Amino acid sequence: MEVKVFKDYAELSKFAANRVLELIQAEPAGVYGLATGSTPLGLYAELIERKAELPDLSQIKTVNLDEYLGLELNHPQSYRYFMREKLFAGLGLKAEQSYFPRAEMKDPEEARAAAREYEAKLQELGQRTVQILGLGENGHIGFNEPDSVFTAPTHLVDLTENTIAANSRFFETEEEVPRQAITMGMAGIFDSKEILLLVSGEQKRAAVQQAVLGPVSPELPASILQLHPNVKLLLDEAAAGDLLTKLK
Ligand code: F6R
Repeated sequence: MEVKVFKDYAELSKFAANRVLELIQAEPAGVYGLATGSTPLGLYAELIERKAELPDLSQIKTVNLDEYLGLELNHPQSYRYFMREKLFAGLGLKAEQSYFPRAEMKDPEEARAAAREYEAKLQELGQRTVQILGLGENGHIGFNEPDSVFTAPTHLVDLTENTIAANSRFFETEEEVPRQAITMGMAGIFDSKEILLLVSGEQKRAAVQQAVLGPVSPELPASILQLHPNVKLLLDEAAAGDLLTKLK
């Protein structure tokens, strides 16, 4: 894992944007793995601002990590809506260039079928050029929560109390946060030539240290990234704490 520490979130986002720009210039017809949440917002804003430097995007495809279960397609908290607002509209991407797990149903059996469908789509699209990831305070990546099975394909998950509380900031009340989601599994996340893991803020420091220094264990899902051959961990100083000293 290559660890890079930046003065602040703005610097981290600029670095990430430079890297993604470089990759898109090299592979304008690649498949790009994207994440939602607050951490990639700086990266997405920067990409939109630097749109003039991007090549023709008509051949690019994107896949997202996850989607909440039971929110209708145009729900403002759905990840599909989030990506359209925060990135796709600004870059002029068409709806058919981007893939999400279908998750608007409430029935778990239907949701499991939708998860299998998304897994098949990921296989069909093939290896990604890059996968963008954020990190949960509990060490989750995508919605692979602690103690999830590392070998699981795209699957239906019960969100932990910690994740529900952390994500309630995007909803009016905590009760409105969906309790389940469909997430890409670890094998799907690994099927990328490069992974950019973006982490900002002191509240993530403990999870970062465990992910990098701790044993590879489903208790801290992001620790499995130690086994991927090409991960760049981009941290601001608040998230890094004394990590670099510990790595020496
Ligand atoms: C988002 C996702 C999650 C987030 C993580 C961090 O698609 O899969 O793993 O990346 O919860 O969220 P933020 O960036 O909001 O702290």
